[in-house]
Amino acid sequence: MGEGISDYTKFCVDLRRQMWMAGVETELRRLIWQIAVTGKYIFAKIHESNRKLAGFKNIFGEEQLALDKSSDQILKNQLQFSGFVREYASEEQDTVVRIGSGTEKYFVTADPLDGSSLVDTNLAIGTIIGIHNGSMMGVGKQTMVAALYITYGPLITMVYSAGKGAHEFVLNREGEYVLSQENIRLKDRGDIYSVGGLRKDWTPEHLRFVEFLEEQGYKLRYSGGFVPDINQILIKNGGIFTYPALKKSPAGKLRLLFELQPMAFLIEQAGGIATDGKTDILDIPVEDIGQRSPIYIGSRFEVEKAKAFLRAS
Ligand code: F6P
Repeated sequence: MGEGISDYTKFCVDLRRQMWMAGVETELRRLIWQIAVTGKYIFAKIHESNRKLAGFKNIFGEEQLALDKSSDQILKNQLQFSGFVREYASEEQDTVVRIGSGTEKYFVTADPLDGSSLVDTNLAIGTIIGIHNGSMMGVGKQTMVAALYITYGPLITMVYSAGKGAHEFVLNREGEYVLSQENIRLKDRGDIYSVGGLRKDWTPEHLRFVEFLEEQGYKLRYSGGFVPDINQILIKNGGIFTYPALKKSPAGKLRLLFELQPMAFLIEQAGGIATDGKTDILDIPVEDIGQRSPIYIGSRFEVEKAKAFLRAS
C-alpha cells in the first residue's frame, strides 16, 4: 500500500476515473457520481430493515417509513444539494418537484426502490434513474442524456450510460465503485426470456410469441424485480424481458418515465432494442408522469420477432 491508496484500488478503474476517461461532461459526471454514492445510503436503509426481519419492529419506538418512501427522501435530499438538478420526478411523488433554483440543466427521474416488496424474500432490488436535459416530458430520444440503475443483491452493482456505451461497476469492500465491465454488448440473439403478467391475461399474439420462445428452447428467468431482470439480460449479454399489454390493461404495468425510458436508454447503448411492440420506447412521448407502456426489451432478434408476432394480429 502506498500514499493511502490500497493495492486493490490502485489497479482498478473507479467510476470517476472511467467517466473522466470516457469524456463524460463534468457536471453530468458529478451528478452520476452523486447518485451512485446515494445508492450506498439507500442500501444502508435496506440493511436496517434486517432488524425488522429479526423481529425488532420499531426498534427506536418510531414509526418506520416504508423503504421506498425513505429511499425517495434520501435521493431527493442528495439531489437537492447537488446544485445540478432543476426538477425531480419520482414514482413516490404525485407531481414533479422543483428542487433547484430554476437555472440548473438537469431533470432527474427516479424509481428510488423498485421491487421493494421483494426485500423480505431477500431477492435483489434496485434504484432506476433517468437524467434529462432541458425537460423530462416529451420524447426520450430528445431529452435523455444519461441513465443508470443500482442493484442491491449479494453484491451492489451499478450500470450507467451517458450516451457513450453502457458500463458496469461493482461496489468494493472499501466503498468504491470499480469498473467490472466496460462497453457491455448484447449478442444479436440470447437464450433467456423474462415475462410478466398472467398467461390467462395475455393477448393471443403475445401468447404465440412466448410459445415461439419456448419452442426455441429459451430459458425462463423472471424474478419479479425489473432491475435484476434487466441486469441479467445485460450481464448475460442477451435475451428478452417483456411486460406486455394485458387484456384488461392495454398499457401494461411498467411506467414509461421512471422504469422504461432509463432501461431503454441503457439497453440501446449496449446494442439492443426497446419497443412497446410497434414504437421505440424512446420515441413515445411522455405526456403524464404516471404513463405506462407495454415493453419488449433486449437482444435484436427476440425484440424484432416480438414485433413481427404482434404485427400479425
Ligand atoms: O414495477 C414494479 C415491479 O415490481 C417491477 O420491478 C417488476 O418487473 C414488476 O413490477 C413485477 O410485476 P408482477 O408482480 O406483476 O410480476
